Amino acid sequence: MSALLEISDLIVDCDPETGERRDVLRAEVVARLRASGQHRAARLVLRWPATDGVLDRAHCDVVLLRAHVEMQRLSEEFLQGDRMRLLLEPMLAALRAGGVRAPYRVLDIGCGLGYVVRALAASGGLGRDVELLGCDLNRALVDRAEALAREERLDCRFVRGDAFRLEAPAHIYLSSNALHHFHGAALTQFFAQQRSACGFLHYDVQPSPFSALGAWLFHRSRMRKPLARLDGCVSAARAHAAATLLAAARRADGPLVGTFDAARSFLSVILRPMQCVVGVQRELAPAFLRELGPLARRLGELA
Ligand SMILES: C[S@@+](CC[C@H](N)C(=O)[O-])C[C@H]1O[C@@H](n2cnc3c(N)ncnc32)[C@H](O)[C@@H]1O
Repeated sequence: MSALLEISDLIVDCDPETGERRDVLRAEVVARLRASGQHRAARLVLRWPATDGVLDRAHCDVVLLRAHVEMQRLSEEFLQGDRMRLLLEPMLAALRAGGVRAPYRVLDIGCGLGYVVRALAASGGLGRDVELLGCDLNRALVDRAEALAREERLDCRFVRGDAFRLEAPAHIYLSSNALHHFHGAALTQFFAQQRSACGFLHYDVQPSPFSALGAWLFHRSRMRKPLARLDGCVSAARAHAAATLLAAARRADGPLVGTFDAARSFLSVILRPMQCVVGVQRELAPAFLRELGPLARRLGELA
């Protein structure tokens, strides 16, 4: 049986050069899900509309948008905006202390509906010298994120963009719940794209013997949409161990890298559902550690 797959990864295919969406054959998606033993997911996709075997793009986008609305509720509940701010503020302070020229561009990769960027913009306080940006492979999500930001009159922007072709270089890269989408060479490539950044903060689920059960309970009780439930459980199962993330990030030969909140004991697995891969350029690291204050104890070795 092949590795577990997320439906959302299979139903969106974009031309890497132009970003344009390409047709996706329903039978191919169904066959891949069956081959990985995900029969409920295969039955779900089999019910979706298709013309000449090609999945209806508008339908896929609506299903994805609805799943992302449920995902946003999860991020709200997990205080993902605050969690990111906890590390982003000290990193921005380190850039200022290190004499890096402003304005500072902060880019959230795989932003979905842009919850984290919108939450950071809404609560303010990062400084007038900070430009908040989100990007995602899927134009439908980015368009909705942009519309929400305009509705909420927030000072942030969203663009369509591929994690593997970052066109607008940023000082600091962020992501939430995106790392598990990239495996093997793709994970190394993800970090390699960011090697010249001042820093990065990538949060994802903390894998543990309890994460599969925890994710199942959580998604059963909180989520209504079948795609959100199925992909949510798979994403917890696909989450990378801290050692895998560190190895991939360090192979990229960029900033110093460590993990924040990576589980060190039984209790920390329960208390810390998310871990963060933190990257910071060597010359900014002392200021970053200073600015972190007592939080530095939750950061593993930077190397
Ligand atoms: C699980 S969702 C997380 C969305 C959001 N960060 C959140 O926490 O709600 C993963 C996101 O990564 C995006 N994504 C997947 N591959 C990508 C790539 N190569 N470049 C940019 N975005 C990508 C997907 O479109 C999806 O919106």
